[in-house]
Amino acid sequence: AASTVDQLASLVKGFSLEEAQSKYPNCHPDTNPFDLYRAHLTNVLAGVTGVDAVIVYNALQWTTGLDKGDLILATPALRVKGKKPDELAREWVAAFPADDPLVEAPTVNGYFVQFFFKPLPLLKYTLPLIRAEGSEFGNNKSLGLVDPQDPSKGRKKIIIEFSSPNIAKPFHAGHLRSTIIGGFLANLYATAGWDVTRINYLGDWGKQYGLLALAFERYGDEEALERDPINHLFELYVKINQELSAEKEQIEAFKKDGKEDEAKKIADAGLDEQARQYFRKMTDGDASAVAQWRRFRDMSIVRYRETYSRLNIVFDSYSGESQVPEAAMEASAKRMEDLKITEESDGAQIVDFTKHVPGKEGKRLERPLVRKRDGTALYLTRDISELLGREEKYKFDKMIYVVASAQDLHLKQLFKIVELMGYKEIAAKCQHINFGLVLGMSTRKGTVKFLNDILRDVADKMHEVMRANEVKYQQVENPEAVADILGISAVMVQDMTGKRINNYTFDMDKMTSFEGDTGPYLQYAHARVCSIERRAGLSDADLASADTSLLNEPHAINIVRLLAQWPDVMQNTLKTLEPTTVLTYLFKMTHALSSSYDHLQVVGSEPELMKARMALYTSTRVVLANGMRLLGLSPVERM
Ligand code: ARG
Repeated sequence: AASTVDQLASLVKGFSLEEAQSKYPNCHPDTNPFDLYRAHLTNVLAGVTGVDAVIVYNALQWTTGLDKGDLILATPALRVKGKKPDELAREWVAAFPADDPLVEAPTVNGYFVQFFFKPLPLLKYTLPLIRAEGSEFGNNKSLGLVDPQDPSKGRKKIIIEFSSPNIAKPFHAGHLRSTIIGGFLANLYATAGWDVTRINYLGDWGKQYGLLALAFERYGDEEALERDPINHLFELYVKINQELSAEKEQIEAFKKDGKEDEAKKIADAGLDEQARQYFRKMTDGDASAVAQWRRFRDMSIVRYRETYSRLNIVFDSYSGESQVPEAAMEASAKRMEDLKITEESDGAQIVDFTKHVPGKEGKRLERPLVRKRDGTALYLTRDISELLGREEKYKFDKMIYVVASAQDLHLKQLFKIVELMGYKEIAAKCQHINFGLVLGMSTRKGTVKFLNDILRDVADKMHEVMRANEVKYQQVENPEAVADILGISAVMVQDMTGKRINNYTFDMDKMTSFEGDTGPYLQYAHARVCSIERRAGLSDADLASADTSLLNEPHAINIVRLLAQWPDVMQNTLKTLEPTTVLTYLFKMTHALSSSYDHLQVVGSEPELMKARMALYTSTRVVLANGMRLLGLSPVERM
């Protein structure tokens, strides 16, 4: 790729790759086409405007659409005093050197100066670059370096905690979204060169797991457990909780009738008390209680792993509430007490934020419990020690929690407590990535939704859709596997379409349709290019020798302009942390593709034209696949 740039840079008199890289922030013209244009335009514009080059560089922005140019300069961003912005725009355009090798003569649009890249050099540069970089095209591995100038100092470390379901409870929509978004963020940081650790923080501790163990003692079935631990444990959980509610009602009824003694008898010996005692045994490290619980946990993890792998996700660590050591929580409790962060209230320990955080913010943080009256720890207590434990273990540079916005308050409380404990820098490295609800999620089989069931239902539906086209269906080697991938794509794309914070409705018909911007449509766009490649049957050498100057149709030029944007889209995504940033781009690309087919025929065109067009489409396929993989999708070649 470097030689391509050298070749191109030689077109631009006086342009030096080394100089651009050292002069401008994160400028890599050898891997990012836009960086070349930004650096070159800056060199020219600094002369024209007399403004400092770095200011110009940062003021060159993307446009909202190809019709507005490839890069745009908002004249006020250069902070030149004494003249109106639109006047400046006209002046600078007039002073811009004629016949620039890379860009067309700029145009004025209000106080913006618009730049359109010249097609020929863009094609000559971008297509070979994509061919050379392949699956690495768009990645910016240097962003994750501790010191971009000195790779020997290593990479920055990021922890991404996501998915985090609760054992023996349904994997609900919140976990689904956390899994999808977290998997995407992990990929994103990895492509930016960060050292990523994926943690699944299981809900696997607390009195309810004592209750579950009791249920297993009573109604457990070894064989059912081995066969399907997730569902069996869930059945037990449901059954024992029904009994528990009945017990609570009974107590209330006795109380209402004034039969306090009867009520107390149940309260002292009933299920709830037994569960409490059982959980006590677990926290005290009772060997058989711990062993039983560990089996449930391990067996559940085996199944989770299988499901996650369908989504291309592998966790580095299955942590969880159970893994937070009692001693660590005691140490945290002591520190909070010494620093007077906690106080007693009704025998329990609470944090009254109104006393630590002034004004409205303190009120908003409320007065959470951190120790119950009987001394047991809570969800929040465990999170505090877990966070500090991770700092010690991983020495992370950044940590992201991917958790539903229903827990906004919880995470705010967590970060604030850690800050109050004197760990301001640690709290500052933590970020909550939240998301809205999924409405109307239910399966055909019933109301309880485990991830596997959801994915199976959507895959069934996709299989139906595929079968509707008998001819194509016959050519797909393993239709079940493809239907599974398409179903997963359908679910994931629907989830990632809007901004994270928005709620959306789980709509099976809509997500599995080929109409509109859906997962199956995206897969179809990819598979269609693959099919053209198969039919054209050209070799790598054919593509490498293609004469790209033959690509002079507007459709071809628009595609290459979009292709050149991909590295910038990835960098922008690191700022927004929104999957929709990637998806919006990919759909722009698929629309450009589908409208181009009638104009840019490959098979049947004369040989040189065929090579050139195939080279363009193959680059498009590479970028589509890179984007899809970043989102966590597996691009299919046939469907
Ligand atoms: N298991 C929790 C739930 O299902 C989510 C855990 C979120 N992470 C955390 N560190 N609190 O609600």
